[in-house]
Amino acid sequence: MAVRRVLKMGEPLLREVAAAVTRFDAELVALVTDMDDTMRAFSGAGIAAPQIGVSARVVIFELRDNPRYPHLAPVPYTVLVNPVLTPLGGEQDEGWEGCLSVPGMRGLVPRLRRLRYQGFDAHGAPIDRTVEGFHARVVQHEIDHLDGILFPQRVRDLRNFGFEDALTGQMTPMPD
Ligand code: NI
Repeated sequence: MAVRRVLKMGEPLLREVAAAVTRFDAELVALVTDMDDTMRAFSGAGIAAPQIGVSARVVIFELRDNPRYPHLAPVPYTVLVNPVLTPLGGEQDEGWEGCLSVPGMRGLVPRLRRLRYQGFDAHGAPIDRTVEGFHARVVQHEIDHLDGILFPQRVRDLRNFGFEDALTGQMTPMPD
C-alpha cells in the first residue's frame, strides 16, 4: 500500500509504550501492509508499528537466506500482535544491532539467548514459539520498540557504539 516515513531516535512516539491491539480488522491488515512495504524498502530485518508513527503493539520480522549474513539462520516471516516474551534460561549473548530508526549506527547489545514468545498473527490466530539465537534477538529488539526502548539504551559499554562505516572490520555484520 505505502512506504511510510520511518521515525528517528529523538521523536517522542519512539519513547512511548504502544497501545494493545483490540481488533483484528481491515485497519490492522492495512497497518501490517504498510509496515511490510516500509521494512522491505529499507531492507530491514524487522519493524515495529511505532517506527511508522502508529502506537500499536504490532511487529513484523524476517531474515531470508542472505550471503551477507552467513552466520545467521533464516527467520520465517512473522507478524506478531500483542506479543508476550518469556525468558528461558538466563544466558545472554552479545551481538551487533542496528535499527531503521537509528540509521547508520551499530551497537553491541546483550540479549537473552533463548526465549518463548506468544501473540497473534494479523488475523487473530495464536502464535507460540520457542526460539534462540538471531531469531530471539530480533524479537527482543522489536518488542523493545513497543515499550519505548531503542537498542542504544541496551548498549552496556558506549565504546561499542558508533557509525557503521567507522566500525567496519570491528564487528560482525548484522541486519538492521
Ligand atoms: Ni529497530
